[in-house]
Amino acid sequence: MALLEIKNLNITYKMKDKSVYAVQDADITLESQDAVGIVGESGSGKSTLAMGVLRLLPKTAVTEGEALFEGKNLLTLSQDELSKVRWNEISVVFQKSMNALSPVHKIGKQMEDVYLIHRPKASKQEIRERIYELFRIVNLSERVYELYPHELSGGMMQRISIALSLILNPKLLVLDEATTALDVVTQSQILREIMQLQEKFHLTRLMITHDVSVVASTCNKVVVMYAGRIMEKGHVEDVLVNPKHPYTQGLLKSFPSFHGEKTDLRGIPGSLPDLSVRPEGCVFAPRCPYATDECRNKMPELKAAGDGKHEWQVACHRNGR
Ligand SMILES: Nc1ncnc2c1ncn2[C@@H]1O[C@H](COP(=O)(O)OP(=O)(O)OP(=O)(O)O)[C@@H](O)[C@H]1O
Ligand SMILES: [Mg+2]
Repeated sequence: MALLEIKNLNITYKMKDKSVYAVQDADITLESQDAVGIVGESGSGKSTLAMGVLRLLPKTAVTEGEALFEGKNLLTLSQDELSKVRWNEISVVFQKSMNALSPVHKIGKQMEDVYLIHRPKASKQEIRERIYELFRIVNLSERVYELYPHELSGGMMQRISIALSLILNPKLLVLDEATTALDVVTQSQILREIMQLQEKFHLTRLMITHDVSVVASTCNKVVVMYAGRIMEKGHVEDVLVNPKHPYTQGLLKSFPSFHGEKTDLRGIPGSLPDLSVRPEGCVFAPRCPYATDECRNKMPELKAAGDGKHEWQVACHRNGR
């Protein structure tokens, strides 16, 4: 059984005057120990998708479909059951996770409190040992225990957020732009640490980022989203090496080469469509260099691509022609 199976997920923000179709017909499977990257430009629905699965969206968001975690549908669990799954089984790190911490208490104390909420019977010694162990995992020194949040650098803060997310040994770690705000050197150190701990603790990881190079270097599978829809998904060595969808091709072109060579930074001309309108045809057609009348009139479904060795799907009429 897959660890997480997202099936036919639709998420709509229902506002007074309009509906924003932020995620449409998404299917994503995470096998145990997969590292799945969701990429796409800002506003494509990546965070909405992940937060919808974890039921962390505001009430205006209507979520339909299924999100089966070890077979249990997260979208229909009672609040009680859901809170057991979050933290214990699934934890999340955001770009600004640290904002959830209080500025007036020491880091160690706040981590103790989190641990105690979930393990009320834990002894003082057990808690301290667990926290020191977590510090080691994320390469922080024990002295951080006695520091206040404002005394930490951005990199240290993200390390604390990651340490906190691991406090109860979750199976699934969701990282939403968790390293985006860091300088390149710190980002690559932390990404390396994340991969090491994934291996050590047999974690499964869902990595949300607009940075394709992060996915290329840290994930085995990738889901490319555009305007709320999945355009292409499959293994990183297929999709990011030989992209089939014109959107994926454009996304890769807009990033400097992973090898540091100078590349063409043309990007993708145009901008994201209005998500309150659902077009008849392909959502990418208005920006696609290959769009035909068929593309403008008929929405392409996700269909198998490649030679069939690996699962690889593309939503493009050009696929296979
Ligand atoms: N609370 C909300 N109410 C209404 N619309 C929202 C809300 N949150 C997000 N949206 C809209 O939903 C769409 C998807 O947003 P989302 O934040 O999921 O994108 P994203 O891919 O995570 O972008 P980014 O890379 O900037 O984080 C956008 O059009 C956004 O404006
Ligand atoms: Mg986001």
